[in-house]
Amino acid sequence: KLEVEGGGGTPSEAAKKAKIGLYFATWWALNVVFNIYNKKVLNAYPYPWITSTLSLACGSLMMLISWATRIAEAPKTDLEFWKSLFPVAVAHTIGHVAATVSMSKVAVSFTHIIKSSEPAFSVLVSRFLLGETFPLSVYLSIIPIIGGCALTAATELNFNMIGFMGAMISNVAFVLRNIFSKRGMKGKSVSGMNYYACLSILSLAILTPFAIAVEGPQLWAAGWQTAISQVGPQFIWWVAAQSVFYHLYNQVSYMSLDEISPLTFSIGNTMKRISVIVSSIIIFHTPIQPINALGAAIAILGTFLYSQAKQ
Ligand code: 3PG
Repeated sequence: KLEVEGGGGTPSEAAKKAKIGLYFATWWALNVVFNIYNKKVLNAYPYPWITSTLSLACGSLMMLISWATRIAEAPKTDLEFWKSLFPVAVAHTIGHVAATVSMSKVAVSFTHIIKSSEPAFSVLVSRFLLGETFPLSVYLSIIPIIGGCALTAATELNFNMIGFMGAMISNVAFVLRNIFSKRGMKGKSVSGMNYYACLSILSLAILTPFAIAVEGPQLWAAGWQTAISQVGPQFIWWVAAQSVFYHLYNQVSYMSLDEISPLTFSIGNTMKRISVIVSSIIIFHTPIQPINALGAAIAILGTFLYSQAKQ
């Protein structure tokens, strides 16, 4: 349920709803493009640590240029702000790398089916880490979400444990990131767009040394040569597209998170995954068994039930 929803239906509420609707549509469209280029890059250049780093570097650079040229107003931040952003950036970094590693090992659709169980993780984290309690119907709605994902995982033709675990780790990390981000943005003068920009910059600083340690310049350079020789010069444009679209879709998603609850965000995100799953299956000719698709449908239906239960 959108937080902006109300019984009155005044013009300003309608305008707010239209704005959120526009954010959601833009977020989903940008995300589909990101996922396609991200997978094309990973197929030719299977180094998820550097591609994750490049996405953050590109977003950070875009925002630094926007601030310097006053296209966007730079946020006024202090040391306290950056300290409170640190745990959010750690969660963002882990979630981002884990999802990218996952997509380097399995089909995009499989990663996103597992990631569609994010609302279930939202409940589990809120219950066990934050001590929040929910009505029984909410807990019951988790059963189809988890069951559907389990069915899909068990019947996936190209199952890979690293791919599965990466998507699961990303679920937990992003739930924490969203809860902490929402708290961090509350009452602050920093907008959703600038909050995400600062998050990118801090995540880039955290991720870079790990990317060098795990993969390193030698592998990157050798892999780059291979990718250019196999794909041709347009490979550079694929990398640019995955990096630019990564930043744009996240920026728009944070502009929405600024206005909605982390729960609504998780549900919007799950709906987004339907477009990603369908488009990536078509574009990459991913083989899907009917039982596998049934698992995905049950998981996504579970999310609908969950959103109803939460209302
Ligand atoms: C990433 O690289 O951060 C993931 O692809 C993010 O996935 P999500 O934003 O769809 O959860």
